[in-house]
Amino acid sequence: MANNLLAGKRGIIFGALDANSIAWKTALKAHEQGAKFVLTNAPVALRMGEINKLAEQCGTIVIPADATVVEDLDKLVAQAVEHLGGKLDFVLHSIGMSPNVRKGKTYTDLNYEWFQKTLDISALSLHKVLQSCMKQEAINEWGSVVALTYIAGQRAFPGYGDMADAKATLESIVRSFGYYYGNAKKVRINSISQSPTMTTAGSGIKGFDSFFGFADKMSPLGNASADACADYTITLFSDLTKYVTMQNLYHDGGFSNMGVSEVMMNTFAESK
Ligand SMILES: NC(=O)c1ccc[n+]([C@@H]2O[C@H](COP(=O)([O-])OP(=O)(O)OC[C@H]3O[C@@H](n4cnc5c(N)ncnc54)[C@H](O)[C@@H]3O)[C@@H](O)[C@H]2O)c1
Repeated sequence: MANNLLAGKRGIIFGALDANSIAWKTALKAHEQGAKFVLTNAPVALRMGEINKLAEQCGTIVIPADATVVEDLDKLVAQAVEHLGGKLDFVLHSIGMSPNVRKGKTYTDLNYEWFQKTLDISALSLHKVLQSCMKQEAINEWGSVVALTYIAGQRAFPGYGDMADAKATLESIVRSFGYYYGNAKKVRINSISQSPTMTTAGSGIKGFDSFFGFADKMSPLGNASADACADYTITLFSDLTKYVTMQNLYHDGGFSNMGVSEVMMNTFAESK
């Protein structure tokens, strides 16, 4: 449903890898709502070529940038402002990757070089994006930055590995930078803590199917889809949520406030 919620707004969308990506769905909805934006991803991800289809659909361009490399980000931000013809109103940080998780290293047997990569890609990259935007004065007042996170940043979820620490750091950057950017330029920064979602990043987690099924059975509304996450993100980019900042916002069908559900209790009753 197009309401022109983002008419006249400009942005950067990080992290659309394929049609399952949360960022991909968000780009389509942002386009539908009248926004102009550039797409970006790591050069290695661009080689798949999928993102060009999305760019075509949204009438935009793709600017390569490794989100861990400050020079890439500086160039990206400058080029985006130039291409879009003005400062930005929104940024989506939808980036996550852990070499430890990908290579099956458990939390008690981490490779520390990879751990640093996990933190750099999945958490510090948000700080780097924000610092680059702030230094270049690239975001308009009341602009909105959204980062994607998962509840394993707050609670223990075996199998999520060092990504849990990355998400906790990401959420902390949301709060800390949210203070500084809000104070200086009225830019708001929030994270969305999304349900398990069938994407490349999601299904890389060991036991992902169980995470997915468990969360679905625990949540009164069931798991939130990537499409629904994109809708929620659009509201945060819009002017209807101007005073929401520094928050970790659960978008999880109620999962985060549950103790146990009747469905789960019945599962154990039946197994006796
Ligand atoms: N899928 C889930 O279950 C789930 C749940 C909660 C939160 N999230 C979060 O949502 C976000 C998006 O993930 P997704 O599920 O859409 O999966 P995805 O695999 O489609 O997206 C992850 C993106 O990160 C990009 N990326 C990795 N390294 C990068 C780098 N160095 N520079 C720039 N980009 C880089 C990838 O190319 C990819 O586009 C991530 O932060 C993820 O942790 C996912």
